[in-house]
Amino acid sequence: MIELTIDGAKVRAEEGMTVLEAARTQGIVIPTLCHFDGLSPYGVCRVCVVEVVKGKRSSLEASCTLPASEGLVIRTGSPRVQRARKVVMELLLSTSPKSKLLQDMAANMGVTKVRFQQKDRDCILCGLCVRYCEQQMQSGGLGFVGRGVSRRVGTAFDEMPEECRNCGGCEWVCPVCEQACRADDLIDGLCGGCLNAVPVESCPICTECSQSVGAEGHRTFR
Ligand code: SF4
Ligand code: SF4
Ligand code: FES
Repeated sequence: MIELTIDGAKVRAEEGMTVLEAARTQGIVIPTLCHFDGLSPYGVCRVCVVEVVKGKRSSLEASCTLPASEGLVIRTGSPRVQRARKVVMELLLSTSPKSKLLQDMAANMGVTKVRFQQKDRDCILCGLCVRYCEQQMQSGGLGFVGRGVSRRVGTAFDEMPEECRNCGGCEWVCPVCEQACRADDLIDGLCGGCLNAVPVESCPICTECSQSVGAEGHRTFR
């Protein structure tokens, strides 16, 4: 076992754990996007950044790929971390503003404006679909093609790969294509409110459980 400090508390972690995993053992929530339990860490989205303190200096590191090591001092919610995560969310939203997941995450982090030019792409290059296909389905039908701004997820010759098992996992795991934000107009790159949820008021037997109809946790009583 090793001991590190997270948000001022001593945390014991197993050898080989990442800072993200060590934080989770203490119930500390660090937002993630390109990380998915059961898939290899990728460390590309930077949503999970934490502050690594070394004396009077500190640096920002992706917690999903940062190994937990003896004596490490980590801050998961400092003002610097929060500012960095907001900028990351702005960048991601400028790439794929129609992603409901991204819009929700940005709202939770208090992002009030997207200052970058909007591109309206349907992929943030998180690599989840590629890793899911390869590591969970042992298919490997998906991969990255191209470089720089042309980089995208594709298949060989852009055709349905022979190895595909039609599991649908690549769509299920994707943070962009799972559910689109349905707002017609984005104000400053943000939707400003969720139009996907059915309001509680429409429940025929509302018990004021505060959950939208159809949402997990929504209950009706007869
Ligand atoms: S649907 Fe096909 S391409 Fe997508 S994860 Fe499954 S096997 Fe891979
Ligand atoms: S298609 Fe979706 S899961 Fe695949 S890299 Fe793009 S955003 Fe990630
Ligand atoms: S979740 Fe850590 S970099 Fe994406």
